[in-house]
Amino acid sequence: MKAATYKRYGGPEVIEIVDLPKPVPGNGEILIRVRATTVTSGDWRVRSLDLPAGFGLFARPAFGLTGPRQPVLGSEASGIVEAVGPGVTRFAPGNAVFAFRDLKMGCHAEYVTMPAEGAVETKPAKLSFEEAAALSFGGCTALAFLRKAGVKAGDAVLVVGASGGVGSAAVQLARHFGAEVTGVTSARNADLVRSLGATRTVDYATQDFARDGSTYDVILDTTGTAPYRRASNALRDGGRLALVLASLADLATAPWYNWRTKHRIIAGPTGGGRAELKDLADMAQAGAYRPLIDAVYPFERIADAHRHVDTGRKRGNVVVSVADA
Ligand SMILES: NC(=O)c1ccc[n+]([C@@H]2O[C@H](COP(=O)([O-])OP(=O)(O)OC[C@H]3O[C@@H](n4cnc5c(N)ncnc54)[C@H](OP(=O)(O)O)[C@@H]3O)[C@@H](O)[C@H]2O)c1
Repeated sequence: MKAATYKRYGGPEVIEIVDLPKPVPGNGEILIRVRATTVTSGDWRVRSLDLPAGFGLFARPAFGLTGPRQPVLGSEASGIVEAVGPGVTRFAPGNAVFAFRDLKMGCHAEYVTMPAEGAVETKPAKLSFEEAAALSFGGCTALAFLRKAGVKAGDAVLVVGASGGVGSAAVQLARHFGAEVTGVTSARNADLVRSLGATRTVDYATQDFARDGSTYDVILDTTGTAPYRRASNALRDGGRLALVLASLADLATAPWYNWRTKHRIIAGPTGGGRAELKDLADMAQAGAYRPLIDAVYPFERIADAHRHVDTGRKRGNVVVSVADA
């Protein structure tokens, strides 16, 4: 099968398409013929080892000392079940599914295996394969942080980085939970963020959300520009600061702020399992959540998809179509 691999950390040029053996589903596993996958900010970080401030020392031990331990990137995919291993009853060949392999990666390939009882769900009929491939990374992250922050109907929620993969999901999900959403974004994306469910936008180039007098129950920051010392100004008493992008210093100081202030900081890695995928699929099927697609690249141009993500300016998700690889 064709797979996009990398042997050394670096820019998009390290990605090359090679032939690898087609995987065979083991006990309790399914084999998915991938129709679409995504290049996410997670792929960019693992490929380049460009980790949030303070985490650099942990990068190589985590992902491979001399080179990548997992040569195939890609945390999410959609496709058709081609075969099932012994003991699988949940899926059958021909089922349309989407899957989240998270940091195990391996989705930038024509085939991938998944534990049938793991983070894999039936593809919502309402979504295309391209959209279904992009359900999990931003969706699971936004869902985990919004839930930890206890977002509920009537809350005022500020999403910083509202047009990105995580932010575009967070705006939709917070709105779905009944919150009043404000999105911090650039002028070029203001209309887009409103169309996702924000009632107001703040242009980060010309306005400062922390100094305009507005306050929020929850601030969710995907950009690293709203650490506590800045965001506290705009947090109501009892407010929660969800730092999707947190530095090591943010993580280290969070317990102190949680103890000493009227606010709570939520930070750290999140994942997503079968339950979260089911929730996201149900919301997608109900029309409450639709992954935002910026561009779809053919598989042979996957390095260009990485270049797009590396700009840090993508709107929602960058998808790679594997169907005709
Ligand atoms: N904690 C976790 O478990 C977890 C999980 C997933 C991701 N993350 C992290 O979360 C971060 C965001 O991920 P992502 O996938 O959403 O990234 P992304 O899609 O690459 O974000 C790109 C978006 O960010 C916007 N942006 C850039 N600078 C901004 C600023 N100063 N203010 C407001 N918006 C700004 C851009 O809009 P403009 O073009 O309009 O500037 C663009 O639409 C990444 O650093 C990732 O590593 C953490």
